[in-house]
Amino acid sequence: MSKRKVSVWTDNRFWQRSAAWVTGVAAVLLIWLTFDTMGQIRMGNQKDIDAHIDKRVPSPTVINYKIGYKMNAKRGLEVPTIGGSDANGNSLFTVKQKFFGRDNYTQKEADALVNLGKLGEQSKNCMDCHTLLGNGGYYAPDLTKAWLDPAWGKNGPMQAITGTHSRAEAMATFLQHPGRYPMHARRMPNLHITAREAKGLVAFLKQMATIDTNGFPRGFGKIKEANYAETK
Ligand code: HEC
Repeated sequence: MSKRKVSVWTDNRFWQRSAAWVTGVAAVLLIWLTFDTMGQIRMGNQKDIDAHIDKRVPSPTVINYKIGYKMNAKRGLEVPTIGGSDANGNSLFTVKQKFFGRDNYTQKEADALVNLGKLGEQSKNCMDCHTLLGNGGYYAPDLTKAWLDPAWGKNGPMQAITGTHSRAEAMATFLQHPGRYPMHARRMPNLHITAREAKGLVAFLKQMATIDTNGFPRGFGKIKEANYAETK
């Protein structure tokens, strides 16, 4: 019997082997990507801040620090900064900011506060109306960077309107009585948030503003100048 020359493209074994290889390589790649993503989104702790390590999701103890949002020269994106920043938009991890009168929350205290805020956010269903990190309703403003909204800062109106002297207290007062301090035509209903819950929610919002979201929401409209982004 003469051996017939068969084109490789019509050879079943070629396609079987290719399928096995592609499946194998894709599986390895997906497993590697899964672990890489899990590493990237794992929440940091105070040790990272002490070691000046930028985590995508920083430690809840960021509530002890001044938070900013600056154009990062290397990445070409606006990136959250923790504890002040250098000319290139890199975090310095040094400048503190009092959160309800204190800037020495321990890891345990800060974890508990942010967790309280997270539970509050879930039980009061803020995402019914707001988006957080892009998820939720489109009725009310996105809350990803709400902490950085200049309206709550020294140069914004909300501290005077709420009779408070810090960004954190102004937000907490608003959250407890949103109807009293309308900022937009649409009103936020009174969700019967207690002072303790409000403190937790503000800690949660402050930490969320430090999450590196690759520049999302893009061109965060309310931050006009780089200097203004260093929250006061
Ligand atoms: C029923 C809809 C609704 C729900 C639920 C809701 N909000 Fe609001 N929220 C609004 C509206 C509307 C505004 C804008 C009106 C205003 O500022 O007076 C607003 C404004 C805000 C602001 C100010 C935004 C800014 O630009 O700085 C914050 C912060 C906020 N909400 C937090 C929360 C949190 C935290 C929760 C959950 C505990 C929540 N909201 C639940 C409707 C809602």
